[in-house]
Amino acid sequence: MLKVVIIGSGNVAQHLIKAFQSSDKTVLAGVYARNPEKLFNIIDKRLITNNLNTLPEADVYILSVSDDAIAEVSAQLPFNDRLVVHTSGSTGIEVINNKNRRGVFYPLQTFSKNKEVDFKQIPLCLESDNVKDYEILEQLSSCISNLVYNINSLQRQALHVAAVFVNNFTNHLYEIGSEICLENNIPFAILKPLIKETADKIDTLTPLEAQTGPARRRDVTTIQRHLDFIKDENQKAIYTLLTKSIQEKNG
Ligand SMILES: NC(=O)c1ccc[n+]([C@@H]2O[C@H](COP(=O)([O-])OP(=O)(O)OC[C@H]3O[C@@H](n4cnc5c(N)ncnc54)[C@H](OP(=O)(O)O)[C@@H]3O)[C@@H](O)[C@H]2O)c1
Repeated sequence: MLKVVIIGSGNVAQHLIKAFQSSDKTVLAGVYARNPEKLFNIIDKRLITNNLNTLPEADVYILSVSDDAIAEVSAQLPFNDRLVVHTSGSTGIEVINNKNRRGVFYPLQTFSKNKEVDFKQIPLCLESDNVKDYEILEQLSSCISNLVYNINSLQRQALHVAAVFVNNFTNHLYEIGSEICLENNIPFAILKPLIKETADKIDTLTPLEAQTGPARRRDVTTIQRHLDFIKDENQKAIYTLLTKSIQEKNG
């Protein structure tokens, strides 16, 4: 059985801890947290340390700290030639200190501590400096997820940009929709079936095929009516930019 150590106590670290704890094919050998009390409700206290020098030996060390701390924390690890991976979408593999063997274990999902996820359905994007370590990461990943991908640093950067468009920007548009509802005494819940159907549609159609609405139809009267209705200049600018982009993509 592969032994794994998690370094970090944030959103991703907590979900990884739960995933590895519930797998009967891996051993969670230990966890490092600057503030151990953050993990007291999810893991046996005896497995947590706030001293890197007392970390147990493991096959893989997963550094799940803020992107800016990866270089610093990996340099502080008190051992050499072990497999150390980070979980960042936008950080190159080379940021990990090269005294250890390096890799990436990037879970492509949005994580918040209090929102449960089914790790089996989360794509894990793997990268390593050598084939043998890739095989270890592949074996480890398959214990907690059914979706494992070989993605290099350049591809991961592209994937992260794509993810910002489909996740963060879409969620920002939900916020705008929610504000417009609130200002007009409409419950935001009324839009939820539409939001769900929009996401479901791309299981069977490409995003280009799935596009509908006034921009796609080039319904200029409706577009102008919407622009007249919107008073917020920022919302107006976003509406105009997205309308133009949809029209360009749809010829
Ligand atoms: N959240 C997501 O949706 C998501 C998805 C995929 C990948 N990721 C990646 O996963 C990694 C962790 O993200 P997260 O969302 O879990 O972040 P987070 O919730 O903000 O947690 C960051 C963790 O890093 C620790 N940390 C920060 N600086 C440190 C330092 N100098 N020394 C030791 N520990 C330090 C923090 O410790 P304290 O709690 O003590 O401050 C905390 O445990 C990042 O690389 C991120 O890009 C995030």
